[in-house]
Amino acid sequence: MKRIKVAELLQGTALGQEVLLKGWVRTKRGNKFVNFIAVNDGSTINTIQVVADVQQFNEESLKDITTGACVAVTGTLVESQGKGQSVEIQAKIIEVIGLADPETYPLQKKGHSLEFLREIAHLRPRTNTFGAVFRIRHAMSYAVHKYFNDKGFYYVQTPIITGSDAEGAGQMFRVTTLDVANPPKTETGAVDFSQDFFGKTTNLTVSGQLEGEVAAMALGEIYTFGPTFRAENSNTTRHLAEFWMIEPEMAFYDLADNMELAEDFLKFLVLYALNNCKDDLQFLNDMYDKELLNRLNFVVNNNFERLEYTQAVEILKTAKQKFEYPVEWGTDLQSEHERYLVEKHFKKPVILINYPKHIKAFYMKQNEDGKTVRAMDVLFPGIGEIIGGSQREENYEKLAARIQEMGIHAEELWWYLELRKFGTAPHAGFGLGFERLILFVTGMGNIRDVIPFPRFPKSAEF
Ligand code: 4AD
Ligand code: MG
Repeated sequence: MKRIKVAELLQGTALGQEVLLKGWVRTKRGNKFVNFIAVNDGSTINTIQVVADVQQFNEESLKDITTGACVAVTGTLVESQGKGQSVEIQAKIIEVIGLADPETYPLQKKGHSLEFLREIAHLRPRTNTFGAVFRIRHAMSYAVHKYFNDKGFYYVQTPIITGSDAEGAGQMFRVTTLDVANPPKTETGAVDFSQDFFGKTTNLTVSGQLEGEVAAMALGEIYTFGPTFRAENSNTTRHLAEFWMIEPEMAFYDLADNMELAEDFLKFLVLYALNNCKDDLQFLNDMYDKELLNRLNFVVNNNFERLEYTQAVEILKTAKQKFEYPVEWGTDLQSEHERYLVEKHFKKPVILINYPKHIKAFYMKQNEDGKTVRAMDVLFPGIGEIIGGSQREENYEKLAARIQEMGIHAEELWWYLELRKFGTAPHAGFGLGFERLILFVTGMGNIRDVIPFPRFPKSAEF
C-alpha cells in the first residue's frame, strides 16, 4: 500500500478506505481499553490521531509506541468520535519502525526553551515550532524563485570561494589547504600563498553581487540566492556567520526602480506566506506573537516610507527617545535608530536612501553633492535592516578614483572595472538577508532559530 501523508489524510478524501500512515509519535494517551496516538510526519503542523483497541494488540507491542518513536500504521480512515479532529485512523496493524527510548529521548514534554532546543538541532525540527519555521522557510525559498522567474529574471550561481573581498562587508573566512602549523614562507618570512591551492589567498564570499553585476551586464535582470559568510564577531539576534542572501541585479535600473522592486518583492513574499502557510503562521501567532498576522498584513497593505538619510538624522536628533549611540550627520545608523524610525516615528517599513559615501561600499553611485551615494536600506519593524542595496557607479573614472581613495586593491577588481569600460550601463541591485526575512515572517526573536544549523561565534556543531 502507498503511504499517504498526514496533510492529505486530514483532508478526508480517503474516508472509509484502508490507508497507510508513516510518521513519528508525538503523544500517546489512553486507558486499558483504547490508546490514542498522535502522529506527525512533517507534511503539516497537525497530527493525525491513531486509535488502537488495546484488546486487539498485545500490550507488549503498544509499549514500544512512545513519544519520538517512528511508526507505520495501517488502518481505516474514519470520522472521529472525539473532539479536536474530524478524522482519525482506526488501527489494524502498527509497526514500530524505530524505537525512541523514553528514558533518554529529549523531547518528552512540550514547552522546551528555544535555547535548549538549539543544543539539540538534530531533533528540534520535530517540534511544532521548528516544523512550522522550516516549512515557512521552504515556502519562502520557492516564492523567491517564483517571483523572479515570473518577472523574467535569471537565477545565476555566483562562486562561494572568492579571490576578492567583495566590498569590505566584514571579516572573511580564509579558504586554504596550506598546513597551518607549518606554512611555506617567502623570503621575508610571510606566509607564501602563491603555494596555496589557488595560487593566491582566497576566502568564502560575503556577497555574490560583483559577479551578479557581470551577469546583469549580459542577461539584463538576474538574481543570486546562495550562502554568504561573515566572520564578524557579532553575537546578536540578527547576525549569523553563515547566512543566505538573495541578490537581484538589474541593468537600466536607477535607485527609484530599485526601491520599487524591493518593495514589490517583499510584499509578494509576505503575501505568499499569508496565503500558503496559514496553519503554521496561525500556530506561531498563537504561541509566540499575537501581533504577527496583523504585522504581516500591515506590510502587504501599506506603502513603505521613502526617506533621505539626511532627513532621518534630523528626525533622530529631535526624537524624545534617548539613544545609546548619539546621531550626527555622517554616523552610521544603529539598529536602535532604525527601529525608532520604523516602529515609533513612521510606524511602517522605511526605505532610507542617499547615505554619506564614507559609510557605504565603494561601488555605490556617487551623487552630485559629492557627499552622498545612491544607497538604499529597507528597514522593517522588529528587524531593522532587512535589505541593503544601491545604484552602482557605472562611470569608469569615478569608480577607479573611489577604489583608490578607499585603499582597495584595484588589481583584484580589474574584471569588475572592465565592465565599466566595455558597454557600461546604469544598473542597480540589492541584497535581502534570507534569515532576516524568515525572522520577520515567522515572528521568531532570534536568527539562530530560523536556519536549520546556525553558525555563530564558537558554534559549528551539527
Ligand atoms: O547590506 P549588506 O552587507 O549588502 C550586501 O552585501 C550587498 N552586496 C547587497 C547588494 O547590493 N547586492 O547585506 C545585505 C543584507 C542585509 O540587509 C541583511 O539583511 C543581511 O544581508 N545580512 C545578514 N544577515 C544575517 N547575518 C549577517 N551577519 C548579515 N549581514 C547582512
Ligand atoms: Mg547593509
